[in-house]
Amino acid sequence: MNRTILAFESSCDETGVAIYRGDEHGNGEVLANEIFSQIDLHRVYGGVVPELAARDHLKRLPVLLYSALEKANLDLSAIDLIAYTAAPGLPGALLTAASFARTLAYGRKIPALPVHHLEGHLLSPLLAAEKPDVPFLAMLLSGGHSQILAVEKIGSYRLLGQTLDDAVGEAFDKTAKLLDLPYPGGREIAKLAEEGDSERYCLPLPMSKKAGLDMSFSGLKTAVRLLIERELAGKNAEDADYRQIRADIAASFQKTVVESLLQKARRAWKECACRDLVLAGGVSANILLRRKIEEEAKKLGKRVFFPALELCGDNALMIAFAASFRARYASCENLAIKTYPRMDLANLPKI
Ligand code: KG4
Ligand code: ZN
Repeated sequence: MNRTILAFESSCDETGVAIYRGDEHGNGEVLANEIFSQIDLHRVYGGVVPELAARDHLKRLPVLLYSALEKANLDLSAIDLIAYTAAPGLPGALLTAASFARTLAYGRKIPALPVHHLEGHLLSPLLAAEKPDVPFLAMLLSGGHSQILAVEKIGSYRLLGQTLDDAVGEAFDKTAKLLDLPYPGGREIAKLAEEGDSERYCLPLPMSKKAGLDMSFSGLKTAVRLLIERELAGKNAEDADYRQIRADIAASFQKTVVESLLQKARRAWKECACRDLVLAGGVSANILLRRKIEEEAKKLGKRVFFPALELCGDNALMIAFAASFRARYASCENLAIKTYPRMDLANLPKI
């Protein structure tokens, strides 16, 4: 059964409103996907300021709702279901879309459905025409999470490994800060690394000798901090080699992160019978990572799937899409506005 789903996302620093029409098996069409990024708002502080994020979401949600309806050429009476990100995320930020969505659903007398943000990321590659075969493996690589999961079926996720300290996106962001690059740092590091020599500095490969699929990025972060302190001591932007040293460090750091993720992907493929691997979350936009993991998949006779580049970051379309699989559980009765800043994907109710 096809439903027209209106979805809201506000878990961190992107406000998203999307409209998607589809069934419970992942077939459907995108009618609108509006995103407003708060990057400019937070950049001067070097990272996300939670209170500012929440206040700005409140301002943008109604504006984006109207532009989404206009793009889809629909009015609210055409909406069958309202979905919203309920977990995980910044507490105040999560509450904005949750209360907006629940109130709107109540007013329209239509069901509302809470969605797990990471399920949105994880399923976003399935919006493409070519889809992985279930069961498949998934690497969720974002600013707040780094996890490897076995997707036994849509809605059933088993955690195989996760970071023991920093998330991989966080490691990119913190390294970028040390290199005086603007927030958010992942894209900036990748850009600077294009001019750099990734062989110039040898950084330690995280957890390379430890078995299993857990990850760790804090040791690498410390190593890169010490390297920056040593190589850039007493130097500033006027020095001829200042940019080159920073580019070489960025390239060496990026290469080490990618190598570490490749090692985990190889192990995950070896430990599980699955052929297909899905990469999702903000870091899955990294071009070097995409290229290297595709080469590896080819070598091993495996397949790898990514979200479209514009869907790697936070967006409401992935929330609408995740909601489409769970649509029959949406309810008009439950009026409580509940959000869960921390919640494991593996604990989600099975579909
Ligand atoms: O999934 P996401 O948009 O938000 C969270 O749910 O956390 O991920 C954001 C993270 C940030 O840490 C950002 O620096 C990183 O994704 N990122 C990248 C790239 N683009 C974004 N990291 C590496 N390379 C990129 N091209
Ligand atoms: Zn995210």
